[in-house]
Amino acid sequence: MKLFLDTANLEEIREIKRWGVLGGLTSNPTLVAKESPHDIETYMKELCAEVDGPVSLETTELESADTIYQQGLKLATVAPNAVVKVAMTPDGLDAGKRLIADGIPVNVTLTFSPAQAILAAEIGATYVSPFLGRLDDVGADGMYALREICDIYAVQGYDTLVLAASLRHSMHVVEAAKAGADVATMPFDVFSKLVKHPLTDIGLEKFLGDWKKLQQELKEGA
Ligand code: E4P
Repeated sequence: MKLFLDTANLEEIREIKRWGVLGGLTSNPTLVAKESPHDIETYMKELCAEVDGPVSLETTELESADTIYQQGLKLATVAPNAVVKVAMTPDGLDAGKRLIADGIPVNVTLTFSPAQAILAAEIGATYVSPFLGRLDDVGADGMYALREICDIYAVQGYDTLVLAASLRHSMHVVEAAKAGADVATMPFDVFSKLVKHPLTDIGLEKFLGDWKKLQQELKEGA
């Protein structure tokens, strides 16, 4: 399972990249707006240049399938690693299908059910993004939906990659891996929690304490 960062913050990208585990990036209008960029296109270029992997950039011109398609064409030129996000709507699917026919990788976002995920696979999307955390937020079972999608995709032999999104904690990531998701995208905070374990900290402290003691003993014996 590849690990993607869900952010539009350059510092966060650089930090996770340093760990050697950054497989790609997902962004959305909320995340980009949070960074208040002066020039959105230049900023998107910067995001794409920072990541050695696919970067999902979301369409926002939602008046019609045509406007989504036109914006998608533009987003695809931002960088060679750009992936165009379209929302799971009839217009989004229509525009997505046209973008795919043009050879542009598409991520169908805001997907919440196995039925919707089947539609994303049928248009030939590169990624489908089921939003687990937001399902949990409304009292549904996000992980159950993800498992269903992974099972259906395996049975049907769909090529679309399952990108588990809206992950809120480490166990979401672990369970997504067990379910067979191809990608897990998560905010910086969840990445930071993945690496942490209290026993690692306690173990390190003990190792370093013992090492210092040894140095002291050697110094005194010299
Ligand atoms: C994924 O592409 C989305 O940007 C993201 O996972 C949404 O997560 P949220 O529900 O925490 O906003």
